[in-house]
Amino acid sequence: MGSKPTDAEPSLIASSFQWPVPDDEIREALDAAYRDGSWGQYHGPHSEGLIADLQQQFSVEHIMLCSSGTIGIELALRGCGVEADDEVILAGYDFPGNFRAIEAIGARPVLVDVDPTTWCLDANCLSELRGEKIKAVIVSHLHGGLADMPRIVALARERGWRVVEDACQQPGAVLEGRPVGSWGDVGVLSFGGSKLLTAGRGGAVLTNHAQHHQRMKVYSDRGNQAFPLSELQAAVLRPQLKKLSHRNQLRRERVVEICEATSKLDQWLRPIFWKTDAQPVFYKFAWSFVPAETKPEMREELLAKLAAKKLPFGVGFRGFVSRSERRCRKAGPLPHSAQLSQSTLLLHHPILLAQRNAALQITHWLDDVIQQMVS
Ligand SMILES: Cc1ncc(COP(=O)(O)O)c(C=O)c1O
Repeated sequence: MGSKPTDAEPSLIASSFQWPVPDDEIREALDAAYRDGSWGQYHGPHSEGLIADLQQQFSVEHIMLCSSGTIGIELALRGCGVEADDEVILAGYDFPGNFRAIEAIGARPVLVDVDPTTWCLDANCLSELRGEKIKAVIVSHLHGGLADMPRIVALARERGWRVVEDACQQPGAVLEGRPVGSWGDVGVLSFGGSKLLTAGRGGAVLTNHAQHHQRMKVYSDRGNQAFPLSELQAAVLRPQLKKLSHRNQLRRERVVEICEATSKLDQWLRPIFWKTDAQPVFYKFAWSFVPAETKPEMREELLAKLAAKKLPFGVGFRGFVSRSERRCRKAGPLPHSAQLSQSTLLLHHPILLAQRNAALQITHWLDDVIQQMVS
């Protein structure tokens, strides 16, 4: 894997990056909100400005700011007209809150498998799927993988299903020239504390359908907006949105370098795949740790060794394969969801904005740890 870029201690590398990134523009936005009193307002110019920025960036007509990506998914389903006793298709490997959002409405998840190369819902699983109760499908873009939206949207249209596109992990990603989050009937963003656009908490729901937007507004209106994003949150998000594309590009470049540096480990690490003409966004970067596909305890051993070095790796989602048939319908076998829930290894994004040497040093430690384990 080439010569080691530095001999620094792992803990020094791990602490050499910070999240959120220190940023004078954010400090100025906070100061300005203090001076003009907008920090204490329900609604105002920052929210209006953020809505206009998002409309432009995502080419969508209607934006509803909200308090989290999790509630955003539920609002999106409600906006699409999903009701109690309906069915909603969901990948067997996904963010747990998406399963709960379906349940919160009294609807039932219908699980389909993921594509093991992208970690996202497999469009092939939709073609055979039928069911009169199915109203919508939730499609999440996960860990730098992009779902096959052109195919999924086409299949959903034919069958009369609505598409809720979860872009919480990938703000600014582009697929076939179109922003991710604008492919579905409704798209959802998260502004949670670890997210690439962060206000500590928050989210946004995007749609071109006036009726969907109206339904979400009516549901959220309890004499006041029940799931709000504050003016202060909107104020700190606007400067980040301006920098998003540049930062996404830096992260992409770093991921490409990391992939090159780890390519000799391909027997043990299978990275997420993306098409060369796509522009994914890396909130996390995923590998499948191949030995753990059959022996889950191998991933625990690897993670313990990485954690001992304070390296910024984690696991993926637990997935829904073991959820009982009482809570969901399994539309078919879910082998890839099962496999990825036990083998996914994630690199968290802050290191992707650190200096090149720090990011590449991580791959050397990863190499060392894996070689120790398998030799
Ligand atoms: C794919 C996905 N969807 C939705 C969410 C929920 O976002 P929030 O944390 O803003 O509720 C997350 C959060 O990690 C996520 O990864």
